[in-house]
Amino acid sequence: MAIVKLNLARNCLKYLIKVYGIKEIFTPYYTCETVWTSAKESGCKISFYHIDKNFMPIRDLPLDAFIVYTNYYGLCTKNCRILAKKYPHIIIDNAQAFYAPHCGMADFNSLRKFFPVQNGAYLCTTKVLDERFSEDNLELTPTSAQENFEKFVYNELQLNKEKQIKTISADVEKTIENFDFANDKKIRQENFKIYKRYLEKFNNINLSIEPDEIPYCYPFSPNQEKIKSKIAKSNLTLIQLWKNFPQSCPESKFLNDTIALPLTDSNYVEKIISTILN
Ligand SMILES: Cc1ncc(COP(=O)(O)O)c(C=O)c1O
Repeated sequence: MAIVKLNLARNCLKYLIKVYGIKEIFTPYYTCETVWTSAKESGCKISFYHIDKNFMPIRDLPLDAFIVYTNYYGLCTKNCRILAKKYPHIIIDNAQAFYAPHCGMADFNSLRKFFPVQNGAYLCTTKVLDERFSEDNLELTPTSAQENFEKFVYNELQLNKEKQIKTISADVEKTIENFDFANDKKIRQENFKIYKRYLEKFNNINLSIEPDEIPYCYPFSPNQEKIKSKIAKSNLTLIQLWKNFPQSCPESKFLNDTIALPLTDSNYVEKIISTILN
């Protein structure tokens, strides 16, 4: 397997579509819309599938199909393993699971989702293109939604314009070399446990965490209107995943109001828990 370092997760998918000559791809309805828009932009036919409460495909998919499966919140590594055994052409989207082990025909992640960098995505693939790509030199100052919402949205909109496959920028490669991954892992696991302890009974999502899983967020889908309104009234910045999901889809029953509670800011963890419990 080779690791190809590109700028964005969505461009890893474009790369795979190109290198494998994929004409049709199965993607979940419940995922980031950049996934299917990138596939569409690459001229690929999209076939959607639904997922159940365990985040597994609701129906059997053709065994020889090219399938994208999302490692949701970094908590679905077990599902990835099960699906990879069944489907030889599965592509694991680890944008929310940076630390997950390699799995499937290919997998990719997104550094920006986990670390304070403006781009970067590692694609693990056996097939590689004999083609050079230019470096991503878009100058953005990385920030989180909680730190500076306006800037965060601005950055995302700039990245949405990046339609061409590019490589990770040299700056990001340097920053990431010096990153304290051990500390990041520890904070994520600790804060996840805290959220789980206090919020589990109010949460429609009931995903267990494996001992070696490092989550992206604590996914919280409140099971009481009272809690939804407390959250709505708070002035905390919240990221909703994935907002415009149609009510007619079966997933909307347990996923529609899901917010991604961040794990790396302990002050935020305290604030959100006290907002919900008080
Ligand atoms: C599951 C998932 N896949 C893919 C992407 C796209 O990642 P990128 O913005 O690096 O292209 C995202 C982004 O939010 C995501 O959450």
